[in-house]
Amino acid sequence: VAGPLVDRFGRVHRDLRISLTDRCSLRCTYCMPEQGNEWLARQSILTADEIERVARVAAGLGITTFRLTGGEPLLRRDLVDVVGRLSRIGGVEVAMTTNAIGLERMLPALRGAGLSRLNISLDTLRADRFRELTRRDRLGDVIRGIRAAAESGMPGLKLNAVAMRGVNDDELVDLVEFAISVGAQMRFIEQMPLDAGHTWSRENMVTREEILEALSARWALAPIPGRGGAPAETWRIDGGEHRVGVIASVTAPFCGACDRMRLTADGQLRNCLFSEVENDLVPALRGSAPDAEIAMRLRASVWGKLPGHAINDPSFLQPTRGMNAIGG
Ligand code: GTP
Ligand code: 5AD
Ligand code: SF4
Repeated sequence: VAGPLVDRFGRVHRDLRISLTDRCSLRCTYCMPEQGNEWLARQSILTADEIERVARVAAGLGITTFRLTGGEPLLRRDLVDVVGRLSRIGGVEVAMTTNAIGLERMLPALRGAGLSRLNISLDTLRADRFRELTRRDRLGDVIRGIRAAAESGMPGLKLNAVAMRGVNDDELVDLVEFAISVGAQMRFIEQMPLDAGHTWSRENMVTREEILEALSARWALAPIPGRGGAPAETWRIDGGEHRVGVIASVTAPFCGACDRMRLTADGQLRNCLFSEVENDLVPALRGSAPDAEIAMRLRASVWGKLPGHAINDPSFLQPTRGMNAIGG
């Protein structure tokens, strides 16, 4: 059957998030335990060939954005090759979400290979807090990566911060000012229950409302309409050209407009961050199955998608896979 990837609720899927590895150079408390997780076995990680094959089939079904995620995608040794293969598919955008450690060195090659957009995680501007939050002393490397990305002239640079009570909630204005100074858009994210320690609590989550209150004390914010399938709501700052975004997955879920699919580093299709059902592409990729079987699995996965996550249901259970192994 031809036609785009549509689910039972009429949502058309255009965005495939591809996790390239579950490993990471940081250990953010909201994502991974201190000792790391038990890593995926090397043989189970999809090769560049296998990723390209899935991506080609997905593009044939109307996917127009590939977003590379991790763990940390920069740890993938053949990253430049993967970016090149995906951008050569044509008619697609290849974006990446990264912690920016090592980005400075890799950026020219990534640009050359066709990388079109970057989102960089930056939760704090204070070295002591960064060390506590990520359990690594690498804020300097991150800032260098951000500056390199800003100076590369790549359009649409965004910085992501998970807002956390008592951790960085007094830094929201500073983060926006930093983002403005490098020409990037700052976005604040409501923390989702995906942390390794299962310590997430509703009371500790900094909400969209609190974020807007803190920012409004400093600037006049005017909502910008038309977010499409994007998780972020955006506001214009003081009537100028700068914008700030909020991703309110918990208090204002955007599931109704979701256009995302996920491919894990070990070849599982997931139709939602919070879905426990995975469609295993590995037998098809490593056997002699035709592309039609991969297409059929993509369709089946999208078709199985629920209307939304259940974070706000009393019966909610956190998914087994950690954020680093889903891809964020
Ligand atoms: P843009 O295309 O630039 O808007 O990227 P993005 O915001 O979709 O991607 P990014 O990797 O920067 O993710 C920012 C935050 O949004 C992270 O916390 C993601 O986990 C979250 N996010 C991305 N897609 C989804 C989604 O489909 N559902 C939920 N609940 N959160 C998502
Ligand atoms: N809740 C919300 N966002 C998260 N991220 C990682 N863990 C969580 C969580 N528990 C963010 C990262 C990164 C993006 C891919 O997901 O900060 O910006
Ligand atoms: Fe690494 Fe991202 Fe998880 Fe932090 S949130 S530990 S940067 S994968």
